[in-house]
Amino acid sequence: MSDTGELARRHIVLGLSGGVACYKAADLARELVKAGATVQVVMTEAACRFITPVTMQALSGRPVFTNQWDAREGNNMAHINLTREADAVVVAPASADFIAQLAQGRADELLSLLCLARPAQAVPLLVAPAMNREMWAHPATQRNVAQIRADGAFVLGPAAGDQACGEIGDGRMLEADELRDELIAHFQPKVLAGRTLLVTAGPTFEALDPVRGITNLSSGKMGFAIARAAAEAGASVTLVAGPVHQPTPRGVRRIDVSSAEQMLAAVLPEAKVHEVFVATAAVADWRPAEVAAQKMKKDASRDGAGRVPAIAFVENPDILATVARLPAAERPFCVGFAAESHDIVRHAREKLARKGVPLIVANDGPATFGRDDNTLVLVDAQGERALPPGDKLTLARALVAEIAARAPRRPA
Ligand code: C5P
Repeated sequence: MSDTGELARRHIVLGLSGGVACYKAADLARELVKAGATVQVVMTEAACRFITPVTMQALSGRPVFTNQWDAREGNNMAHINLTREADAVVVAPASADFIAQLAQGRADELLSLLCLARPAQAVPLLVAPAMNREMWAHPATQRNVAQIRADGAFVLGPAAGDQACGEIGDGRMLEADELRDELIAHFQPKVLAGRTLLVTAGPTFEALDPVRGITNLSSGKMGFAIARAAAEAGASVTLVAGPVHQPTPRGVRRIDVSSAEQMLAAVLPEAKVHEVFVATAAVADWRPAEVAAQKMKKDASRDGAGRVPAIAFVENPDILATVARLPAAERPFCVGFAAESHDIVRHAREKLARKGVPLIVANDGPATFGRDDNTLVLVDAQGERALPPGDKLTLARALVAEIAARAPRRPA
């Protein structure tokens, strides 16, 4: 068992039922182990037709259980012992037949037996369906899925896309990294359940001509981490992103923009329908006053005296300040970021007043751009408080907890 990683000190029972997606379960076992979990694999007889227990033992580092009559357990009660230490049971893939067994409370095999025998309040059951689209769409399957949900199971996916049978549609099992992230999210406290959060992230790009522009080194990592942490905490999240190379966190609605003006146009209507607005984007303060319709040619762009072109700037809208000035009924709880290179707290305090927001998060800009770790200081009317240093996701989770405690609920 590992002390580090997102799933450190978690013990996961990974169940495989029969399906081609068993090959993804091998990857999932690896991902869970890499994230710090201990993984106990349990396979049905059908699963063993698709992938061998040898592979799963090698990847999980533990002998696999396949049989309810397995005599290795001292009391011969594998179905009880296996779940007593578990933090979760994850069945991936879950076949249509296996879901039907769960729905009926059957206990024909070790895996269905242990799902039934687990202490349901303490050990959640997460189920990743994998089947042909017709099987998934069948009313019997849909009925069974609704039943296991009602019984407390968490259903992860399925995704839509190409299927092993050659058809295209709903029923594909989520990928291993998606399932790992779902499991990580499952363990996060739901401090923003039922709430809405809007976040801006990344740089803006202010065009000079069709191929050139002015931008900055913001990677978007902090804003994306906040979007992910808020979604993990149960919020419905909208992320307005400048040009960045970051994958969209699961469950987050993303709107891509380029310039500050586009970002403002995307943010304003959304801000009015979200309870919280977190502005992490490194918005360009100025944009070129004129955008050339065609690429500026090196020689043709010189003036009469042969001088290279000078760029005139105009000021960009301040997105955060604009949202903070919305009428109270439309205004979300606003959180600004201040990336400074010196006098971090003093500048943050000035910004608090200038932007008219209740909370500014200060960080060391040049030291944080593109990095995975960061330090954050929360500055508000009461004072300032540093969050313990950590990676951006850990900090984002801490910040989300702070926001959850401060942001008033908006009347429906
Ligand atoms: O004014 P300054 O750029 O230092 O303030 C930073 C904070 O304001 C960040 O939260 C940033 O996302 C936001 N901001 C904005 N629109 C701008 C400039 C900054 O929303 N044009």
